[in-house]
Amino acid sequence: MIVSALPSVDRLRFVNSGTEATMSAIRLARGVTGRSKILKFEGAYHGHADSLLVKAGSGGATFGIPSSAGVPPEIARETLTLPYNDTEALKTLFSAEGDKIACAIIEPVSGNMGVVLPDEEFLRELRRLSEKYGALLIADEIMTGFRQTYGGAQILFSMEPDITTLGKIIGGGLPVGAYGASDKIMSHISPEGPVYQAGTLSGNSVSMAAGLATIQKLKTPALYSQLEEQGRKLSQGLREIIGRLSLPATVNRMGSMMTLFFTPDPVVDWTSASRSDTALFRVFFHECLKQGIYLPPSQFEAFFLSTRHDDEVIRLSIEKMSRALITCRNWIDQGRPEYNPEEKHS
Ligand SMILES: Cc1ncc(COP(=O)(O)O)c(C=O)c1O
Repeated sequence: MIVSALPSVDRLRFVNSGTEATMSAIRLARGVTGRSKILKFEGAYHGHADSLLVKAGSGGATFGIPSSAGVPPEIARETLTLPYNDTEALKTLFSAEGDKIACAIIEPVSGNMGVVLPDEEFLRELRRLSEKYGALLIADEIMTGFRQTYGGAQILFSMEPDITTLGKIIGGGLPVGAYGASDKIMSHISPEGPVYQAGTLSGNSVSMAAGLATIQKLKTPALYSQLEEQGRKLSQGLREIIGRLSLPATVNRMGSMMTLFFTPDPVVDWTSASRSDTALFRVFFHECLKQGIYLPPSQFEAFFLSTRHDDEVIRLSIEKMSRALITCRNWIDQGRPEYNPEEKHS
C-alpha cells in the first residue's frame, strides 16, 4: 500500500523506529555514492543517530558541532548544516562541497522547530542541486507521511526524492519505521548489495497489522479535506484572537499540523523560530493544560489534529485557548510577573 501511494518508492524496508529509518537511509546513500558527508537543516530533527544530532554554529554552512554529549566530533564533522529555506546558502554550499555530499536530508514540512513551511523554490533548488552534484535527496516523512495527504508531503510539493523515510502514522501507534526508494537504489542493500542493515523485530506482524489497518482507513480523500478544514478553523480562530489582543504571536499551519509561535514576525527557519518568547509559551501551555487541553510541551513542536477533532472539539479548543491567550495578554500587561502554574491567574 505504501509503494502504491508514493511514486518515488518501488521498494520498502521496515525497521522499528524513525531513528532506525533515517540512520539506514543515510547508510544507504553513503553506500550508493561512496561519499561521507551529509547535509541537514538547522532546527530539523531526524532521530537520535550520532550523525543527525548536529546543529549549525552560525547562519552559514558550518562544520557540525554535536548537540548531544557522546557524539564524537569526528562524526559530527561529517554533517553539514544550513538554514532551512535559504536557497542562496544552498547554492554556495553545493558549489564548494557538492561533490563530497552523499545526501541531503530534509523534512518537507518542518515540524521539529515548530511547524515551518518550505519555500517551494528552495525545495526545487535542493532537488536540482542534489541531482547536479550526484548527492541523493532524502525526504524525511516520518512526521508528514500520510498526515497532510495520502502518501506524503512530497506529493504536494512534487518533490521526487531519491529515498523516503517513514514512521509514526504507518505503524498505527505501534513501533515502526521504514525507508524506501527506487529498485536501483534499494538493490544496494544486503543481501543483494553491499550495504548492511537488519533487525530482529523489523516488519513484526503486530506493527504491520496496525499500520495496514490505519493506512486502509486513511485511503479516504474526504478524511484529508476534513483535517484541512478543522486545521483551517482552529488556526483562523487563534489568529483572530491574537489580532484582537495584539499579542506578539504568529500561527504556522499546513493541513493538520500547526504551531502557535510567540513571536510577531514570520517564522521561516530556526533563527526566526528561536526568537519566540518561550516564557510566554509557558504561560499559554499551562493555562491550556489547566483547562484540559494537552499541547506539546515545547514552543518548538507541532500540534496535530486527528479525525476525532470534530466541530465541537475545535469550537471548545478555540474558546479555551482564547482564555489562555487573554491570561497571556494580562501577564504581559502586568509586567511579566513570576508565573506559577499552580496559582489561579485571570
Ligand atoms: C521528522 C522526524 N524524523 C525522525 C524522527 C525520529 O523518529 P523516532 O522517534 O521514531 O525514532 C522523528 C521523531 O519525532 C521525526 O519527527
